[in-house]
Amino acid sequence: MTLGTRGAVSADYGAFVKLFGELGIPDPVPDRDYYVAKLMPEMIVAHDGATVVGYATWRTYGTTAHIPNVSVDPAWRGRRVGQLLLERIRELAKAAGCTRWYRNVKADNAPAIRLYERCGFVTDKESWAMSISWRDALALPFDPGLAETVVRPDDDAEVAARFGLEAARVPVLRARSDTTVLVAVHAPDGGGPVAFAAFDTSFPGAYPFKTLRPDLAGNLLRACHAYAELDRHDSIRLTVEGDRALYETLAAGGATLMFALFQLASPL
Ligand SMILES: CC(C)(COP(=O)(O)OP(=O)(O)OC[C@H]1O[C@@H](n2cnc3c(N)ncnc32)[C@H](O)[C@@H]1OP(=O)(O)O)[C@@H](O)C(=O)NCCC(=O)NCCS
Repeated sequence: MTLGTRGAVSADYGAFVKLFGELGIPDPVPDRDYYVAKLMPEMIVAHDGATVVGYATWRTYGTTAHIPNVSVDPAWRGRRVGQLLLERIRELAKAAGCTRWYRNVKADNAPAIRLYERCGFVTDKESWAMSISWRDALALPFDPGLAETVVRPDDDAEVAARFGLEAARVPVLRARSDTTVLVAVHAPDGGGPVAFAAFDTSFPGAYPFKTLRPDLAGNLLRACHAYAELDRHDSIRLTVEGDRALYETLAAGGATLMFALFQLASPL
């Protein structure tokens, strides 16, 4: 076998679709246009000659690199194809000026955790991928005195600082898709946002989903609901990152846990 890596090209779409199905996540398969415009530029493939045997995606938020996906053909697993992909991304990310990288992995995905640990990642925080019906979301307690708004580019830096996001990530979230809206909840005194979500109305899912206090979940879900495609979807998915109190509030309000995640991170 002569394994190598290279940047993805449009002819890799078929292989991508097959490998995307191996991720075991409920996300819809990206169509070809989205693949070419958004994913391909940030994707590398592992190949044996002309055969694609795995792929990984990566993107940067300032000096942080995020690895959204790694997938290896089942017939090729356990042969360090995953490691080959990650080591290539390490080189590319360092060349792009990154000093840290991270990714989310399902808590029960032992092969993936083993792979990332071998590449130097350590567990940074727990996250929870959840789903809640709009009916339950609207039944959560909320403060009618708070205002729901859309985040303007001028406010990106403040949002990032308040919710512990990399400064460069907020504009990247806004550009993620035509169906993504960045919503925030504000106190009436103009004291800055108290909750923030990047809501993709077509998925429909909110990630990140951040509040300064867990009891603000009802307001943030209402802010998302204003943009929901209610004729197509009767629930919303959301990922709560590192905030157990918010996770427990949502679970008590009827949200179901789809899967638990670890965020793994490391210096590059
Ligand atoms: C996770 C995945 C990308 C790993 O790819 P890979 O090419 O097999 O990875 P590597 O060979 O570099 O490393 C896999 C490691 O997991 C280990 N492993 C395999 N099955 C395991 C299991 N059930 N329990 C614990 N470790 C396991 C392997 O032994 C290997 O570790 P080692 O080389 O130290 O022995 C691949 O399994 C995959 O595509 N899975 C489906 C998609 C997925 O889950 N992607 C990750 C999303 S976070």
